Amino acid sequence: MPGGPAPTGAAIGASAPKSNIVGIALVGFAAFGGILFGYDTGTISGISTMDDWVRTFGHRDPSTTLGWILHTSDRSLVVSILSAGTFFGALGGAPIADIIGRRTGIMIASLVFSLGVALQTGAHNWATFIIGRLFAGFGVGLVSISVPMYQSECSPKSLRGAIVSGYQWAITIGILLANVINNATKDRQDHSSWQIPIAVQFVWAAVLAAGMVFLPESPRWLIKNGKEEAAARALGRLTSLSPSDPEIEIELNDIRAALAEEQKLGESSYADCFKSTHNKIFLRTLSGIFIQAWQQLTGINFIFYYGTTFFKNSGISDAFLISIATSIVNCFMTLPGMWGIEKFGRRALLLYGAAVMCICEFLVAIIGVTISLDNQSGQKALIALVCIYIAAFASTWGPIAWVITGEIFPLNVRAKAMSLSVASNWLWNWAIAYATPYLVDGGAGNADLGVKVFFIWGSTCAGCFVFTYFCIPETKGLSLEQIDLLYQNSTPITSVKYRRELIAQDLHVADLHAGQGE
Ligand code: GLC
Repeated sequence: MPGGPAPTGAAIGASAPKSNIVGIALVGFAAFGGILFGYDTGTISGISTMDDWVRTFGHRDPSTTLGWILHTSDRSLVVSILSAGTFFGALGGAPIADIIGRRTGIMIASLVFSLGVALQTGAHNWATFIIGRLFAGFGVGLVSISVPMYQSECSPKSLRGAIVSGYQWAITIGILLANVINNATKDRQDHSSWQIPIAVQFVWAAVLAAGMVFLPESPRWLIKNGKEEAAARALGRLTSLSPSDPEIEIELNDIRAALAEEQKLGESSYADCFKSTHNKIFLRTLSGIFIQAWQQLTGINFIFYYGTTFFKNSGISDAFLISIATSIVNCFMTLPGMWGIEKFGRRALLLYGAAVMCICEFLVAIIGVTISLDNQSGQKALIALVCIYIAAFASTWGPIAWVITGEIFPLNVRAKAMSLSVASNWLWNWAIAYATPYLVDGGAGNADLGVKVFFIWGSTCAGCFVFTYFCIPETKGLSLEQIDLLYQNSTPITSVKYRRELIAQDLHVADLHAGQGE
C-alpha cells in the first residue's frame, strides 16, 4: 500500500479528492462510446431504404419501380439483429470488464465493433451483412456497459451524474449524425451510398480506442485486483494530486473498506445479484433491470424507429424533416439534463420527466383520435406535444437511467448487475422495435392501434412515475461508497434525512467500520 498507514476521512478531517479539469476531460472523453451506440442504431433505417442497398441485398421483383424489393421479414431481421448482438454484448461485458479491466474492455469493444463495420462495408451478400450487424451489435453492447461503468468509477461525486449524462448526449449526437450523413449520400446510385455511412463508423471506433490508450484504468477496478500502487497513480491522474497525497489515501481507503465488506461474503456470482439478505442487493439489481426497462417503455424508440411512418400516416407532409427535428430536440435537450442532474437531483428529475411525458402522450392520443387527418392546427399541436415529450425524455430519463445504473451497485457485483440491467434495456429495445409495427399498423393479424398506441406509452410513463417514487433513492452528491451505505442502512432508501446526514458529516465507509471496531 503506498504512503504507509491509511488515514480515514474523519481522521484528517478532510473530504475526498475533487477531480480537476483534466480528470473531468479524461473521463468525459469516454462518452465518445455513445457515438458508436447512437450512430449504429440510427443509421440502419435510412440505409435499408437506399436504392443500391436494396438492389444489392434485396430480391428481384419486376412489379416494383426499382425492380428489387426487401421483404418485411428481411427488414425486420436487419434492424433487430443489432439488438440481438447488443443483448449478448451487454451480458459478455461483465466478465470482460471484471477480468481485463474497464478501460481495456472499451478498447476491445471498439475492435469488435470495427470488425462488424468491416464486414458490412465489404458485404456483397446478405449473410455477410447480417453477421457484420451482429458483430457491430456485440461491440455496442460491450460499450453500453463498460462506458457508464468506467465513467461512474472515475468521476468525482459532485459531477458523476453530469459526466455519465455526457454518454447519453453522445448517443443523441450519434443518432443525429446518422440522419445527416444518410441524407447526404441517399441519392447516390452506387455502393458508396450505403458504404460511406457505414464506413464512417471506423472513425468513431478508432478515435475511441486510440483515446482510451491515454486514459487511466478505473482506480476501483485496480484496487479490486490488488494493484494498489497503480490505483493511487490512476487517482492521482484523475485529480492532479500526487499519488501519495493524503486525500488520495482517503478515497483509496474508502474503496478498500467497502470492498472488504463485500468480500467477506466470498467471490461473487450472478446468483449474488439476487440475494435479498445483504445490502439490499436484490432490490438494487431489480431497480437496475427495471429502470432500464422503464426507460424503453417510455416509448422513445417508437419515435426514432417509426417516427417518419407515424408522422406520414398522421397526415403530416414533411415527415422526414419532422424526424430530423425530433433528433435535434433530443440532442439539444440532453444539455439542460446534464446541468439539472447535479442541481435538482436524479429522483426529482425522473419524477418530473415521467409526469410530463405521461401528460403529453395522453394528449397526443386524445388529439390524434379526435382530429381529422387534414386538420392543420391539430397536426401542429400533435408535433408540438411530441417535441415536448422528447425534450422531457432527453433531459431526464434518457441520461438518468444510465447514471443510476452506473452508481447503485456495490463494486463486488457491479459489472454483473450492470450487465443484467443493460441487457434488459436491449431486450426491451428489441421487443418494442419488433412488436410496434404489429401493434400500430392495420392489416391481417395486426392490432391497428395507430395513434392510440400513445395511450399505452402514456400508461407506461405513469408506471415510470410510480416505480421511481417507491424504488429510486436520491444519490446526488454521494460517493459510490456512500450510496452503498444508503442501501445498507435500516432506514428506507428514499429517506431524505439519512442522505443529508451522509453528506453533512461526510461519512465514509472506513470511518463507520473503524467506529464499529472500537
Ligand atoms: C437512450 C435509450 C436509447 C434511445 C436513446 C434516444 O439512450 O437507451 O434506446 O435510442 O436514449 O436518445
